[in-house]
Amino acid sequence: MQSIKHILIDTDPGVDDALALALAFMNEGLRIDLLTTVHGNISLAQSTENALKLLSFWGKHIPVAAGAAVPLTGKTVTALSVHGPNGLGGLELPDPTCSVIEIDAVTAMDRVLKKADQPMTIVAIAPLTNIARLLQQHPEDREKISNLVIMGGAWGRGNAGVLSEFNIFNDPQAAEIVFNQGLTLTVLPLEIGRQAQIKKTILPTIAASGRVGRSIADMLAGYRSGSKDAFNIYDALTMAYLAHPEYFTLVPAFVAIETSGRYTRGASLIDDRGKLKQSANAKVAKSIDSVAFSHWFEQQWQ
Ligand code: BDR
Ligand code: CA
Repeated sequence: MQSIKHILIDTDPGVDDALALALAFMNEGLRIDLLTTVHGNISLAQSTENALKLLSFWGKHIPVAAGAAVPLTGKTVTALSVHGPNGLGGLELPDPTCSVIEIDAVTAMDRVLKKADQPMTIVAIAPLTNIARLLQQHPEDREKISNLVIMGGAWGRGNAGVLSEFNIFNDPQAAEIVFNQGLTLTVLPLEIGRQAQIKKTILPTIAASGRVGRSIADMLAGYRSGSKDAFNIYDALTMAYLAHPEYFTLVPAFVAIETSGRYTRGASLIDDRGKLKQSANAKVAKSIDSVAFSHWFEQQWQ
């Protein structure tokens, strides 16, 4: 029998975040023990409302805790032009039937980790503010994290700055803290999302799969990331990784975060060649078997 993997997800939904959540629910080998929300694609208030609306609409019952409204320093930068004014590609969902738990995201993560029998996987698909605060306030929790799977960073050019990927750009100080804790980190940077786009021709199949699929197809219709014929579904790649790590080629690397460059704030320098003379602090995906990924992705909606 397949053992169940218990995970925590930190998110700013976000169309590709919503798709990641849907794929997590579709994976019978995963249990989401806690969802935490953070500023990012939209404000914290909207991010939390979106998480609650999605769960209510899909009939899923998991605890949601709200986290940071702003980065550790500076202001948050939203991505409304990509995700639509409400973050869900313009899809209007009914009011949620659930609400957030009474404790904040950091306290909630700490409690779940401390209670866990085994170290857990955290999936971080948003700016890393909540995770950095958790590690600062509860450093002992590091030993309860078996893997922190991050969608973030870029080998080359960015989507928020010339060299900066959105999640890192939105809180570089937090990213620097997270990358320097000696944790097991798995990083899926921008290029992986671009190698494993999904074709727009799959939308009718997704829509026909049921209530969750219909809402995902509606959100994707208002999502502006990708090309004329295909979407970048960055965050959803984390769920492909949990289901099929063998699709990904990972290399050990030292990831340095630019916290204050004149033009490069939020850049992630992924050094897999020892240029910076530092030990590796992460495993970073270099490529994905996009054919196997597409096949897997299509199967999810059958
Ligand atoms: C990341 O930025 C956000 O807009 C997406 O949700 C994803 O987490 C991609 O750079
Ligand atoms: Ca996200």
